Amino acid sequence: MKLVDNKATLTFSNGSPSVELPVYGGSIGPDVIDIRKLYAQTGMFTYDPGFLSTASCQSAITYIDGDKGELLYRGYPIEQLATHCDYLDVCFLLLNGELPDEKQRTDFHKLVTNHTMVNEQMQFFLRGFRRDAHPMAVLTGLVGGLSAFYHDSTDINNPQHREIAAIRLIAKMPTLVAMAYKYGVGQPYMYPRNELSYAGNFLRMMFGVPCEDYKVNPVLERALDRIFILHADHEQNASTSTVRLCGSSGTNPFAAIAAGVACLWGPAHGGANEACLNMLEDIQRNGGVAKVGEFMEKVKDKNSGVKLMGFGHRVYKNYDPRAKLMQETCNEVLEELGLGNDPLFKLAKQLEKIALEDDYFVQRKLYPNVDFYSGIVQRAIGIPVNLFTGIFALARTVGWIAQLNEMISDPEYKIGRPRQLFTGSPRRDVPGVKK
Ligand SMILES: CC(C)(COP(=O)(O)OP(=O)(O)OC[C@H]1O[C@@H](n2cnc3c(N)ncnc32)[C@H](O)[C@@H]1OP(=O)(O)O)[C@@H](O)C(=O)NCCC(=O)NCCS
Repeated sequence: MKLVDNKATLTFSNGSPSVELPVYGGSIGPDVIDIRKLYAQTGMFTYDPGFLSTASCQSAITYIDGDKGELLYRGYPIEQLATHCDYLDVCFLLLNGELPDEKQRTDFHKLVTNHTMVNEQMQFFLRGFRRDAHPMAVLTGLVGGLSAFYHDSTDINNPQHREIAAIRLIAKMPTLVAMAYKYGVGQPYMYPRNELSYAGNFLRMMFGVPCEDYKVNPVLERALDRIFILHADHEQNASTSTVRLCGSSGTNPFAAIAAGVACLWGPAHGGANEACLNMLEDIQRNGGVAKVGEFMEKVKDKNSGVKLMGFGHRVYKNYDPRAKLMQETCNEVLEELGLGNDPLFKLAKQLEKIALEDDYFVQRKLYPNVDFYSGIVQRAIGIPVNLFTGIFALARTVGWIAQLNEMISDPEYKIGRPRQLFTGSPRRDVPGVKK
């Protein structure tokens, strides 16, 4: 962060003295006005619910330009990473700032692979849940539960300890997600296999059974790996900010990541692909492709309250670059599995076609977002709809931990403590209390 040749002056109409505020610039993106001394200088706070104009930190990890439809991890465009790297390369990049060379790559893959098993005691913890519990409820508990196993060895002020916690989390998340799934369907847990890739191992832990060999389908393996890459980080979104705020108290990193999982669960964040699949199933039940036109009329009618789930984005006002990549993967997976004629997928294609040509969507720059296609791909792979957000949590864990570690190693890091505009009752006395 560097001072730029600019200053902001804040003046007040009531005659209070004006204040000059420094302006800082990053490497790309909007400059920021530094208001840290504002309260000391004026006795006033700023008001910005939802952080619409507030940068809560400086970060060198991920950059998004929503108007251009650009997403960069450590400067590299997501399109290049998704086509030339695998998920663990991207994890290394997000954590360390650079892509691994050949030796670093081998070492990192080995390190993650060697930490995929979870303490055997975790399965007894899992047994305390109802079988029909939502996987995100289970995951929030399991990830938080890791802190009970690794508390003593986790000093967040020690960079080596932070690195160990990062590796453990990245390695164990697929095992935990698959365990949550197996528990729900009443099948035995599958232990991880070290000769498989990160995504291949996850597929086997999900869909393999102990009574027969499981052969990883390379098209599905690559598709899952791509879902992981595309969801690995997205700068200061709600769950990432939650992890930073939670971790800012110096808490155990597993507990901070559990807070991120809890935040991601909400339908306004990680739950959107689940909502999209539910919408498709709803249209299908009510007549399918023949009713698409009618459904689209409802979507365009402002009074209906119906939205086309999986379309539009708060930040991307251009094609979400991840959606393009996911669309490619979606076509590959449907072809591989011979699902081109599946009624739900035909319906999705029809919706996509109409929406991309329809004036309502074109004028408002509403494009399919990553959730539209990732929901379809995950369903085709056989992942149950209520586990979609769990897959997202698995993929985003590296982003959360990279952002948490970045915060802790920042010399300017302080516990997060927002201010408020108080609108409640001023001081008053409990009835009967004598002054
Ligand atoms: C993501 C989302 C919340 C972004 O909202 P936003 O940035 O506030 O965008 P706005 O609500 O300002 O949308 C602009 C216009 O497009 C319309 N619009 C936005 N998304 C729409 C959708 N999915 N279906 C129909 N109309 C939509 C809005 O009604 C608004 O119309 P208007 O200008 O006539 O009032 C919104 O697009 C949405 O709800 N999408 C569906 C849910 C989804 O897929 N979420 C996943 C996001 S990753």
